Amino acid sequence: MAGQPESMPIVIKTRREIEQMRRAGQVACKVLELMCQAVKPGITTGELNEIARQELERHGAVGLSKNYPTYKPGQGYPAETCISVNEEVVHGIPGTRVLHEGDIVTVDAATGLSGYCSDSAVTVAVGKISPAKQKLLDITRQSLDLAIENIKPGRKWSDIARLMQAMIEKAGFSVVREFVGHGIGRTMHEDPKVANFVSHEQMRSDFILRSGMTLAIEPMVVMGRRQVNMLSDGWTVVTRDGQPAAHFEHTVAVTDAGADVLTDGRLV
Ligand code: MF3
Ligand code: CO
Repeated sequence: MAGQPESMPIVIKTRREIEQMRRAGQVACKVLELMCQAVKPGITTGELNEIARQELERHGAVGLSKNYPTYKPGQGYPAETCISVNEEVVHGIPGTRVLHEGDIVTVDAATGLSGYCSDSAVTVAVGKISPAKQKLLDITRQSLDLAIENIKPGRKWSDIARLMQAMIEKAGFSVVREFVGHGIGRTMHEDPKVANFVSHEQMRSDFILRSGMTLAIEPMVVMGRRQVNMLSDGWTVVTRDGQPAAHFEHTVAVTDAGADVLTDGRLV
């Protein structure tokens, strides 16, 4: 999500609400799994979205990106998922773009079921990819895992963001600053902002982790310089230098025992 100006209280969820979110998360996981299985040279991003659309329908779930409002009135986001290829960082619109051997592609499924939301994304290889792209995927996923492992009530989020940023920059990559993770629950985007870096501005929206918070953690990592542009479609975010980007996302609940991942497909 992009940064919102005003800040609202962080909504603490009950055990029951968390289980509802896990159900939505299980659908998101299934949708991503099916899309990833279909990724191969020659398929279009529109065809991948159609797989997602059908699977969502089968579960009676909704793709939360569909009709998501933009600043242009009457022009909501047009698809059930976001699909971003190579230099596209996030919010790529599925369509006629064809995947080629050596590409990387991010599939992002924010899913609503029975009034509860989950949000998850993964970047995968199309056929055989370069070692540099493989390292970008590995480090981005590892930075998400590192955040998840470090979640504990009482901890400041900025301490975790600092760990993520350090891991990413040590590998020679950069963290995107314009987009961050977010609280999630009955709506897809809630407070707090969940940054993947530390800065003066970000410290102003820092928060202490509490049991019952539900967060979408989503590092966006680029191989080159961190600056991004928005395409004229009003959605697709691309790296300015054209270098590839990766994005992994899980929805997690903070519990007394640490992070409980709600989008890994488990139903407890
Ligand atoms: N994971 C994405 C995000 O939180 C999902 C966005 S849906 C969109 O930004 F409609 F905003 F594109
Ligand atoms: Co998100």
